[in-house]
Amino acid sequence: MKTLNLTLDSSSNSGSKLYLKIAQAIRHSIEESHVTAGEKLPSARTLAAQLDVNRHTIMAAYNELVAQGWVETQQRLGYRVAENLPIYSSKNTNKSLPLSKSTCTDKHQWRLIKENHKEVSEPASRSPFNFAGGNPDIDLFPFKEFKSFMNEALNRPAIEDLNYGDQNGFKPFIKEVSTYLRRVRSITDKEIVVVNGTQEALYIISQVLIKTGDKVAVESLGYQPAWSAFESAGAQLISVNQTDDGIDVEHFKTLIEQNNIRLLYLTPLHQYPTTTTLSMSKRKVIYQLAQQHNIAIIEDDYDHEFHYNSQPLAPMAANDPSGLVIYLSSFSKIMFPGVRLGIIAVDKSLSTHLVNYRTLINHKVNVLLQDAVARWMKDGGFERHLRKSTRLYKKRRQYMIDQLNEFSDEGLHVEFSIPAGGMALWVNIGKNAKKVEQQVKQNGIFLLAEHAFHLNKSNDQDKYIRLGFAGQSEEKMREGLLLLKPFLNKSE
Ligand SMILES: Cc1ncc(COP(=O)(O)O)c(C=O)c1O
Repeated sequence: MKTLNLTLDSSSNSGSKLYLKIAQAIRHSIEESHVTAGEKLPSARTLAAQLDVNRHTIMAAYNELVAQGWVETQQRLGYRVAENLPIYSSKNTNKSLPLSKSTCTDKHQWRLIKENHKEVSEPASRSPFNFAGGNPDIDLFPFKEFKSFMNEALNRPAIEDLNYGDQNGFKPFIKEVSTYLRRVRSITDKEIVVVNGTQEALYIISQVLIKTGDKVAVESLGYQPAWSAFESAGAQLISVNQTDDGIDVEHFKTLIEQNNIRLLYLTPLHQYPTTTTLSMSKRKVIYQLAQQHNIAIIEDDYDHEFHYNSQPLAPMAANDPSGLVIYLSSFSKIMFPGVRLGIIAVDKSLSTHLVNYRTLINHKVNVLLQDAVARWMKDGGFERHLRKSTRLYKKRRQYMIDQLNEFSDEGLHVEFSIPAGGMALWVNIGKNAKKVEQQVKQNGIFLLAEHAFHLNKSNDQDKYIRLGFAGQSEEKMREGLLLLKPFLNKSE
């Protein structure tokens, strides 16, 4: 087995002794930072086996490097790269070795064809007061309990399932998810495709269904990562106005008359970011329009479980006789974003194409994780965790409402509707929302103002901020809100 890649000089100086050639190759690896100061080097025995030479030859090479100051040796601890490397002398460079990284100045210029121009920003979770609208409280997750299902998955692995195949997902996980979706969300007659989170689903769907110039209708205030996925496939985004109960269907009708819309992306249950729910009557109209004009609907149901008043409306996918709804659900809020688990529930006529396309980027799912989650779901742990977090988030929602009502009583401009569910409040602070977002950053507060969610930035009224209530404790929330308070505007 190879433990250190060595390039032995086979051309010039071919008369030099083998141990010197090996020493030179090891030194080259050090110079090129393949092994760095203080790092352990392979034992003489291992390297001898790798190069098929006598162990004493390797020891002679190491001793040579010790003498030169490149390598250090300690009894029984073997050989290490010296902490203080000798000054590199260019005179000693052996020109027959490959082009040196350390001396090369002419770097390759990449010809970039596709880029995502969205900047990768500092994660909200690094802020001491994190009011990001969609962050769950990961401290609530029952890691100990989940570990036992991970252990089970490892103790009794489904050996044949660990090999290639079953590209929709791990079958027992699909079974658990299907049962859950049928029982809790009334979704039947759909095929399940397991994905590494909703974003992957959005990308795959975009690549399969959108061609350059296709029109995709989206909510005028919405989820930018979804828009980027559509645009990466060449989509032209069309903004649909919003009202207090979801998109403006009359506006949608007009847009359909003016444009050949191929796809509609919606967050119907808790609109992202305004938190409103798309009414039943509007859902029916949207469905009929979509059917009439052959428009597929992506329903992103990203936080279905967190609903606090009565039982939430069933997803649009639950009443979809012509199979035009592509339903997306994520485990990022139910568990944590790092789990990278989500599902697409879709008509079989599309699922096969999605799975086939997905094999281009990944031709096997994470069986171990899906096995553990399936066992956790079967045991009831998943729903226990959901019940616990929903209860707590409801309490936190109330806590934030009370705090903001106090601010309002004290004469500050704070207006909001109480959302039936979700993880955030959409708060009207009157003016200067973007300025407030920037100012409070200095105090370690992360929140986003309205501008961040507009498709058409000229629609920004600069009035709203989104305040997540789920991701931090009441104490933290209170501390953060008190720091935010001095930046809020007075009622006029
Ligand atoms: C609207 C919306 N959809 C989906 C997701 C989840 O995405 P993912 O599953 O890729 O983590 C989020 C997370 O913030 C979201 O806000």
